[in-house]
Amino acid sequence: MKIEKKIPKHIAIIMDGNGRWAKNKGLSRDYGHKEGKESAKEMVRSCAKLGVKNLTLFAFSSENWKRPKLEVDLLMGLLHNSLRTELKELKKNNIKLETIGDLSKIPLIVRKFLKKVCEETKDNDLMTLTLALSYGSRDEIINSVKEIADKVKNNIISVEKIDESLINQHLYTRNLPDVDLMIRTSGEKRISNFLLWQSAYAELYFSDELWPDFKSEHLIKAISDYQNRERRFGRTSEQII
Ligand code: FPP
Repeated sequence: MKIEKKIPKHIAIIMDGNGRWAKNKGLSRDYGHKEGKESAKEMVRSCAKLGVKNLTLFAFSSENWKRPKLEVDLLMGLLHNSLRTELKELKKNNIKLETIGDLSKIPLIVRKFLKKVCEETKDNDLMTLTLALSYGSRDEIINSVKEIADKVKNNIISVEKIDESLINQHLYTRNLPDVDLMIRTSGEKRISNFLLWQSAYAELYFSDELWPDFKSEHLIKAISDYQNRERRFGRTSEQII
């Protein structure tokens, strides 16, 4: 499949179905998450190779804290281990790591390591890999409204200055372009509080594959589907031509 043209600048992925993948195989959910980590690694490699400049992975939602403590601990451990093992790879491949979300809830030891990896990769410019951790889009929007309201109250900005660009500047994603392609696996067709503002014009792609089965060839299929869509941003087809 040829996909050289129109590579999306920003792909965001809701990696869903680890639990079901494990259950289908008669395994515990841990195996699903471990295998899911392998798919995440493959996505990073493939996106970098294809020339995608920004990849954002929904690794842990603000609602995921409600899962059993054992599973939360496992996911945090998996994140910690991945950071330790992947730092060298990120550096070697010129990939910058960033995070979005409420990191204050992430265990201190993991948070410290995240900070270290972000710091050590900050000058890399082939691709930005953003991990959404303890992330919820509504929380993000609420934070941004609070920050802006505070600035208005303190006469730092006037109400008239509030526009899209100002709101963008107060989101966790201030350094990222809008999402072009949003992928969700496992057959669910929801956005689940992920990058709601940033996906206003994103093309949505739903795959029936469970996340641990979602590999390069599925990513290429998603990008190829994206390339055959007409993005009109409110205009007519004739205006696009
Ligand atoms: C959704 O599957 C997946 C998650 C909540 C966590 C995502 C984590 C990974 C892919 C592994 C670690 C990744 C990194 C970047 C270190 P689910 O558990 O909701 O599956 P289910 O809906 O089938 O139960």
